[in-house]
Amino acid sequence: MELEGKSIIITGASSGIGAAAASLFSHEGAQLVLGARRSEKLAEITDAINQGGGRAAFLAGDVRDPAYAQDLVELAVESFGGLDGAFNNAGSVGDMIAVDEMDPENWHDVIATNLTSPLAISGNPRRR
Ligand SMILES: NC(=O)c1ccc[n+]([C@@H]2O[C@H](COP(=O)([O-])OP(=O)(O)OC[C@H]3O[C@@H](n4cnc5c(N)ncnc54)[C@H](OP(=O)(O)O)[C@@H]3O)[C@@H](O)[C@H]2O)c1
Repeated sequence: MELEGKSIIITGASSGIGAAAASLFSHEGAQLVLGARRSEKLAEITDAINQGGGRAAFLAGDVRDPAYAQDLVELAVESFGGLDGAFNNAGSVGDMIAVDEMDPENWHDVIATNLTSPLAISGNPRRR
């Protein structure tokens, strides 16, 4: 995908692969909305991108919250005129225990993080 001028959400952008992707995508010309729970980390990464001539905004929150996914999309629309794509990088492997020992709450957390949130972002009707 050609990233120049594209409006892209990256979840899990406060560290690791997501933070590296933010830097790389910005160098490729993407306009970024960065998400994760750690606000200070997101602010640092966003400031570095904007001070380096890129364009980025951030919103801290938990991708397991469906309202947060919608808020990320709205921020992309408000900041960059729309949403072209997303790197749904925030992920959870859960407790890594046998499925018959799994706490249902943990199961729902894994599904919400890995499946429901990407659908809410990438499948959002406001994506162009
Ligand atoms: N590194 C590997 O070898 C590897 C291999 C296979 C798959 N992966 C997958 O690649 C992705 C990134 O991995 P990584 O190694 O870069 O891990 P990481 O450094 O721990 O980064 C995970 C990111 O996801 C965010 N995150 C986690 N749960 C979240 C939630 N509920 N709501 C919002 N943000 C959340 C974290 O931010 P906050 O803590 O600030 O919320 C962080 O920015 C993960 O999905 C991981 O499962 C990694």
